[in-house]
Amino acid sequence: MAAVPRGGIVAVTGAAGFIGGWVVRRLLDRGYRVRACVRDVDDDNRTGFLKRMPGYASGRLTLHAADLDHAGCFDTIFRGCHGVCHVSHVSTYDDADYIRRTCDHIVNSIEQAETVSRVVVTSSIAAVISEVDIQELVRRPVCYEDRYPDEQNPKRTASRGQGYSIGKVIAQRAFAEAAEASGQWDAITCCPADNVGPIQSAHQKDMGPWQHIIEGMLTGQYQQTPAYRPWMVVDVRDDADCHIGLLESVLVRNGERYIAWSTEQRNVEDICASIDRLLPELRHAAPPVTDPFPERIQAREAELRAIWAGCELRNDRIRAILPIRFRSMDESIRDCVESLISIAAVKVATRQG
Ligand SMILES: NC(=O)c1ccc[n+]([C@@H]2O[C@H](COP(=O)([O-])OP(=O)(O)OC[C@H]3O[C@@H](n4cnc5c(N)ncnc54)[C@H](OP(=O)(O)O)[C@@H]3O)[C@@H](O)[C@H]2O)c1
Repeated sequence: MAAVPRGGIVAVTGAAGFIGGWVVRRLLDRGYRVRACVRDVDDDNRTGFLKRMPGYASGRLTLHAADLDHAGCFDTIFRGCHGVCHVSHVSTYDDADYIRRTCDHIVNSIEQAETVSRVVVTSSIAAVISEVDIQELVRRPVCYEDRYPDEQNPKRTASRGQGYSIGKVIAQRAFAEAAEASGQWDAITCCPADNVGPIQSAHQKDMGPWQHIIEGMLTGQYQQTPAYRPWMVVDVRDDADCHIGLLESVLVRNGERYIAWSTEQRNVEDICASIDRLLPELRHAAPPVTDPFPERIQAREAELRAIWAGCELRNDRIRAILPIRFRSMDESIRDCVESLISIAAVKVATRQG
C-alpha cells in the first residue's frame, strides 16, 4: 500500500499527550498538514501548547475533539487524510472487549474516509517483554520484534496488572487484520521503549510515567522500578521521528511492528545520579531511592538485576528501514530536566553550602 505523500494530511490521536505532541510538532516541521485529535479542544491547559505552534496560526494544524469511546467521532476528522498516527491511550486497559471496540471505532472511520493509506499504531515494549515471568527473560533474552510476552502464561491477566501488555497486542492484531481484510490501507505498529525527553506543556509532567518519575527525583522522592528493571530509553523526539518514518516508508508491510528504542539501559538510581553529572549548575540534592517491594522480592534484587543485565536489546529492524540515529540517554535526561524546570516550573531540591 502507498506510504503517505510528503506534505499530505495526517491525523494524530492523543495529540495533547507527551508522544502525540511531539508527533504533531515533527509532522509540522516536515511540512505535513496535521489534524490533532484531543478530547477537549477548549482545555487550554492541555491544548495551549498545540495552539502556540506556528502551524496553528496558518491553519496547517487544526484541533479536533474526539473521544475513542464514542463510535463515529473520527468520521469527519479522517475524511481526506492520507495517514493516521493512532498514538492515544484508551480509557482502560483492563477490558479486552472495550479495547477491541475502540479499535473498531478508528477502523470504521478509516474505512469511511477511503483516503487513508497508512496507519501507525502506537504499542509498547510491554507488547514485547513483560515482567510477569522473569525466568522467561532467561529463556529468551534477545528482545526484538518477533518476541511477544508468553501468551500462555496463566498469570498474564488484567487482574495481575498485565492488561496494558495484553491490550497492546490485541490492538496490534485488530488493526493488522482489519487492514488485511480491507486491502485499501495498511497498519504498522510502533513499539516504543521508555520515553524520556522534553515536555512541551506543563500538564505533561504528570503523565509519562518516566518524566513524572524524573520530576520526583528533582523534588526529592522516587521509587525503585518493578522487578528492578532498568529504564530502556528512547528519546520522545526520536520516537516521534520513528512514527513519521513508518508513515513515509515504502519498505514496510501491513502487520509489521518496529521497536523504537536506543538500546541504552540504565538503573533508576543511576538515572537520578546522572542529573548532577549532566547539570552540576543545579546543585541537585539526589534523594535516595525508595524500595516499596516486599522482602521476598528485595531478597532477589541481585538475581533480578543479573537477569536484566543479560537481556540483549535490539533495534536493528527500525535502523534498517529509517535513517534514524537515536539520541543518547544523557541528552534525553538533560532535556527532560530542563523542560520540567522551564515549562512546568518544577522546584529542584538543592544541596546546601
Ligand atoms: N510514555 C512512554 O514511555 C510510552 C512507552 C511505550 C508506549 N507508549 C504508548 O504511547 C502512547 C502515548 O503515550 P504518552 O506517554 O504520550 O501518553 P500521555 O501523555 O498520557 O497521552 C495520552 C493521550 O491519550 C489520550 N486519551 C486517553 N484516553 C483517551 C480516549 N478515551 N479517547 C481519546 N484520547 C484518549 C489523552 O488525550 P487528552 O489529553 O485529549 O485527554 C492523552 O493526551 C500510548 O498509547 C502509550 O501506551 C508510551
